[in-house]
Amino acid sequence: MRELFLFPEVQSYGSFAEFAGDHQIGKHDLIVTSEPILPNFKKDIPQGTNTICVEKYGKGEPTDVMFEELQADAAAAGFDRVISVGGGSCIDISKMLCVADGRNLDEVFEADPSELKHNKTLIVIPTTCGTGSEVTVTAVFDRTRKGTKMGLTSYALHTDFAVMIPSLLSTLPASVFATSSIDALIHAVESYTDAAQATNGSRMFAEKAISMILPIYRHIKDEGMDNRSKYIYEMQLASLYAGVAIANALPSASHAMGYPFAGKFHRPHGEACYVFLDVTLKKYLADVRVDKVDNQQKKDWSNMMQIIASGMGMEGADDEAVLNSMDELLGFICPRKRLSEYGASPEDCIAFGKSCWEQQQRLLSCAFSPYTEEELIEAFKSVY
Ligand SMILES: [Fe+2]
Repeated sequence: MRELFLFPEVQSYGSFAEFAGDHQIGKHDLIVTSEPILPNFKKDIPQGTNTICVEKYGKGEPTDVMFEELQADAAAAGFDRVISVGGGSCIDISKMLCVADGRNLDEVFEADPSELKHNKTLIVIPTTCGTGSEVTVTAVFDRTRKGTKMGLTSYALHTDFAVMIPSLLSTLPASVFATSSIDALIHAVESYTDAAQATNGSRMFAEKAISMILPIYRHIKDEGMDNRSKYIYEMQLASLYAGVAIANALPSASHAMGYPFAGKFHRPHGEACYVFLDVTLKKYLADVRVDKVDNQQKKDWSNMMQIIASGMGMEGADDEAVLNSMDELLGFICPRKRLSEYGASPEDCIAFGKSCWEQQQRLLSCAFSPYTEEELIEAFKSVY
């Protein structure tokens, strides 16, 4: 049994110039970035370094077609190392560039993941504070030819260096800070409760992330969102720790329910998952209270609730009160609405529940306590 998967080397620098000097960035490197981020470090890119902005190939989440066009341009430029400076889409494209080796995405997805090779050095500089993608071995693409969004997990998709340069996040909008960091918190909580895969090691990283993020949120609630910049570095570290947790034990129900909802209403991933976090944790609490889980799980639940209570400054409080306070705090950081206010109909709740049941079993199998299709539909209805 795997106890803990740990990759890569994590570094931090004060500026991109410092990083570029240390790593001797130059003409054999390919920078993959995005248009809003590029002005933050363009002047520090050494002459002759090839730079590609993902927006040239399409907007939004990466697709097979986008990737293949970008890969053709990258191959024409030639490169030994990929330096990814951006959010989740940039990182996923960069991971794939190091593995695809000129093949189209269908060939890569249909290959045996254990046979895939990591052909190039990958340096990831995340510019949000949430996905944790810099430390996971998964890349998600919209496979337009198949009509579905799919994640590929393979050790070949690992990062060689994860580099934190907090100054690159100086222009991160409040809304992106909120939705990306809330995603990191949910990663930590859901990974901690992964009944199938969590280990002492993965829980250690999840615990650290929870115990860093909740106090930061409490400070921001007191000091105002405009003061968030002083917490950026700590939040980046916390999201990296949450990333290590999900590289080992997957997130579950909030993510499973967030996907069909976000797919239809195009809400940011972190917000979509947050819509379902409280209802997920309340189901687990109810299952603990009626003895639907075994003694070990009760212990795990109690440990996690102590971590959350401590992060909330509510040691010793009743679990339900702690979860209600956390939900209220998260609502301050990332305002969310009821499904009806997003435009959903009662029929959507049934359709989402069914789609979740049919397509998200990989995540649902990691839930703290099992779901039925009816419970999923009820969960959607409860936030309608
Ligand atoms: Fe997530």
